[in-house]
Amino acid sequence: MELQASPVPILLCIAALMAASCPPSQAEGQSKSSFEDSFDIMWSEDHFKTSEDGQIWYLSLDKETGCGFQTKQRYRFGWFSMKLKLVGGDSAGVVTAYYMCSENGAGPERDELDIEFLGNRSGEPYLIQTNVYKNGTGGREMRHMLWFDPTEEFHSYSILWNNEQILFVVDRVPIRVYKNNGKANNFFPNEKPMYLFSSIWNADDWATRGGMEKTDWKKAPFVSSYKDFSVDGCQWEDPYPACVSTTTQNWWDQYEAWHLSDSQKMDFAWVERNLVIYDYCKDTERYPQMLEECSLSPWD
Ligand SMILES: *[C@@H]1O[C@H](CO)[C@@H](O)[C@H](O)[C@H]1NC(C)=O
Ligand SMILES: *[C@@H]1O[C@H](CO)[C@@H](O)[C@H](O)[C@H]1NC(C)=O
Repeated sequence: MELQASPVPILLCIAALMAASCPPSQAEGQSKSSFEDSFDIMWSEDHFKTSEDGQIWYLSLDKETGCGFQTKQRYRFGWFSMKLKLVGGDSAGVVTAYYMCSENGAGPERDELDIEFLGNRSGEPYLIQTNVYKNGTGGREMRHMLWFDPTEEFHSYSILWNNEQILFVVDRVPIRVYKNNGKANNFFPNEKPMYLFSSIWNADDWATRGGMEKTDWKKAPFVSSYKDFSVDGCQWEDPYPACVSTTTQNWWDQYEAWHLSDSQKMDFAWVERNLVIYDYCKDTERYPQMLEECSLSPWD
């Protein structure tokens, strides 16, 4: 697909503007904390490495196993951001997942916000898949192309989560807007605090061209890299739920963060026109009845 070139300078300019002003309290985040301050390894400690200065983290996948980590803390609402550089070369079948989930497992009542990077053959484009689970029910996939090669450099991938909307953001461009409707419903996760996770694993039964492209283990190990984790969010404290009320300090749950800004709307319109590969809301074979959340406008 030939992308329109014109929005890119606008994006860069917006990104530059925003870097100066938003998020306002980046310094209060944990951006310079060490891995151990924020995370635990979930499995395969020996498939995890850091750079000498501890600032870059590497997860690797080989025929034996993948690897994953999770935050020590849970949060309810916030801005969660990290820079990733994905497995380069021939990475067909390999999935790097970066997600938030209310539990450390695939329990039947979990809430989850997913970003999955689906690897590909050398030179073929990665896809980014997002999904939202509420109380164990997902099936809300979208797939997008990216406007850059995510294996060449670090790019930031972020989730904004409050009670009005969930944004999936790539380098400050919102690629997906998931709105609440202000009522009790079974599509918008807003009650359970979530951990942030990342992992790398083999998914060659489905990931690349619908499972037709298999992982080439001769190319292993497959390594994805991470840096600059930051969170501006409400840390959950058991047993007392500290995140029930918001103060004016929580910029991620203020009016400006409940709607797209004008510049975000421009970027989002460009994404919608150019980068969407799959949208479950438009998949009438799979969902003959319009789903409740699909009638909500991202522009409100
Ligand atoms: C969540 O899902 C479980 C079963 O998976 C169900 O029993 C329960 O009623 C659901 N809770 C809500 C609030 O819908
Ligand atoms: C991989 O590349 C093929 C061929 O360009 C493309 O059809 C496919 O969408 C790409 N991504 C995935 C995840 O299959």
